[in-house]
Amino acid sequence: MDDDAVFYQELPKVELHAHLNGSVSFQTIEKLISRKPHLNIEHSMTAIGKGQRRTLDECFEVFKVIHKLVDTEEDILMVATDVIREFAADGVKYLELRSTPREEKDTGLTKRSYVETVIKAIQQCKEEGVDIDVRFLVAIDRRNGTEVAMETVKLAEDFMLSSDGLVVGLDLSGDPTVGHGKYLIPALQKAKNSGLKLSLHLSEVPSQLEESDLLLNLPPDRIGHGTFLHPEVGGSQSVVDKVLKNNIPLELCLTSNVKGQTVPSYSKHHFKYWYQLGHPSVICTDDKGVFCTDLSQEYHLAASTFSLSHKATWKLSHQAIDCIFAPEAVKEQLRQKWNDLESRVLK
Ligand code: IMP
Ligand code: ZN
Repeated sequence: MDDDAVFYQELPKVELHAHLNGSVSFQTIEKLISRKPHLNIEHSMTAIGKGQRRTLDECFEVFKVIHKLVDTEEDILMVATDVIREFAADGVKYLELRSTPREEKDTGLTKRSYVETVIKAIQQCKEEGVDIDVRFLVAIDRRNGTEVAMETVKLAEDFMLSSDGLVVGLDLSGDPTVGHGKYLIPALQKAKNSGLKLSLHLSEVPSQLEESDLLLNLPPDRIGHGTFLHPEVGGSQSVVDKVLKNNIPLELCLTSNVKGQTVPSYSKHHFKYWYQLGHPSVICTDDKGVFCTDLSQEYHLAASTFSLSHKATWKLSHQAIDCIFAPEAVKEQLRQKWNDLESRVLK
């Protein structure tokens, strides 16, 4: 590793946008494939390598393949513990994992046991002493409509009360070209009223401005991607103003957007627009397994593309602490951790 790569690795980091099944590493996929050889799944079907790009549709096909490999409690436990350990090994000190609870009739997996298993993985890693604070966001897949969204909110509410603070919020994700967010507003509003934080994928594709405008009225606590919100790419100033007025942080995932072809290149990524405004912008991975990246690499890419000094990069990772969904006391602990590491890492 060159000196620069060492810096990004040692930089303490906060990961706020990581889909569990998109974060499964090569090594874990190998273990899953050996558990289920009859599926005839090859590794090339679960990841998008260096220099490769896919349409967004093709990306969503990849998730379907991974879901076939991860369909028992045992699989989820292995996947979640592996993912948590990998983020920790990459210098991530605080992680918010998100995942869509799935029911699998063949294996007896229920949505409730799905969430319980993720929570068990988080607790196991804590008991092992893995140096990372992990929280969970229950995800709504937009394609499944109003009723499922409401069920998911109820499940998240139950776990918010029973998980000892591990379930902190709700994510809205899934194929952005399917369904309309307006039908999900009652469920999202209910979640917000009961104290769940909201992170919503907004304007991932150009056609969603009207939907984003409506959902911003909630308002959400964070925005995933927000690629097409600003006027330079067909968005609107009034939508940008809503984001600014409510000071809603953006979760920005460079490689995911480049490989999924929603932005033309790293240098044209909307990180530049929001960062220049001084708006809270948090570098994240989205799907580190599928897009073959990690958070250190994403910070490295952001810094080299937008000429950020080590000091500016440190500030960026430090400011991400303000955007986490865990309570103020956790933010304070993390700030202390950053303080303790500063003189060694920021030489
Ligand atoms: P899971 O929720 O842990 O199963 O992670 C995979 C799921 O996350 C996918 O099926 C999508 O619903 C969602 N997802 C992952 N990446 C993206 C993205 O870039 N946009 C929208 N949804 C995504
Ligand atoms: Zn995402």
